[in-house]
Amino acid sequence: MEFILYEQKGAVGTITINREKALNALNSTVLDELNQTLDAVNLDEVRCLILTGAGQKSFVAGADIGEMSSLTKAEGEAFGKKGNDVFRKLETFPIPVIAAINGFALGGGCEIAMSCDIRICSENAVFGQPEVGLGITPGFGGTQRLARLVGAGMAKQMIYTARNIKADEAYRIGLVNAVYPQEELMAAAEKMAGGIAKNAPIAVRNCKKAINEGIDVDMDAAIVIEEKLFGDCFETEDQKYGMAFFLDKNKEKVKEPFKNC
Ligand code: CAA
Repeated sequence: MEFILYEQKGAVGTITINREKALNALNSTVLDELNQTLDAVNLDEVRCLILTGAGQKSFVAGADIGEMSSLTKAEGEAFGKKGNDVFRKLETFPIPVIAAINGFALGGGCEIAMSCDIRICSENAVFGQPEVGLGITPGFGGTQRLARLVGAGMAKQMIYTARNIKADEAYRIGLVNAVYPQEELMAAAEKMAGGIAKNAPIAVRNCKKAINEGIDVDMDAAIVIEEKLFGDCFETEDQKYGMAFFLDKNKEKVKEPFKNC
């Protein structure tokens, strides 16, 4: 692939958007390759993904402005759909995805981070939706996911003013879960991913599904979604083993890794 690197270490896969000369901006090729990379993840082995950008300066500096500059209305809509389809695939990917945001996360960069389950960033990270300064709206889900994540008032302020915010403010408003020195970011992401990968995989997947599917429906429908996914865990090897391990009073026992995917 030209712009995507993929590495698997044990049960953790790392996707790196590797277009450093353009600060990892998302052109059609990057989006296509990201789509193909997701399709190729070995879900029998991988239990958590990390998404990051190449280099020390930028996570993703947005959709490619050069490519967008000459689009017609129909082509603009199609480009938005291309990005939205890949981001939605990421958001609904069966296993958790951690965004390790190592610099600029602007426009499509902020939007792809918001499609991930968990966001952590380096101290030099900068977030923003600068689109209205370019004469467009956010087009890869920003108007929808930012409002859901940080509330409509803060999302409207960020989007209408096109003002960038630094890591500490992103942390304060709940856009990221934690901020690390740049050199510690990937180790922190890997540690978190490793911790997730150790837990019962069917249960983790069902938690992601329950949260994603329940969040946009009313509570009566949401708890039914949870009930089904909760029930779905029973009779699995992992449920039987996890509970038997707790109930076994032998203090010498050592917990085995969960097996089911
Ligand atoms: N698209 C295309 N190329 C980009 C890019 C982008 N979004 N962001 C950066 N680049 C390119 C620059 O053109 C430059 O290329 P050259 O070396 O060939 O000139 C290279 O990356 C380095 O960028 P700068 O020289 O500008 O670096 P800087 O340190 O001076 O500034 C920056 C960094 C503040 C991030 C600045 O590059 C910038 O403002 N980039 C654009 C950010 C932006 O507006 N993103 C939103 C895009 S619209 C969008 O994403 C729509 C959507 O929702 C789908």
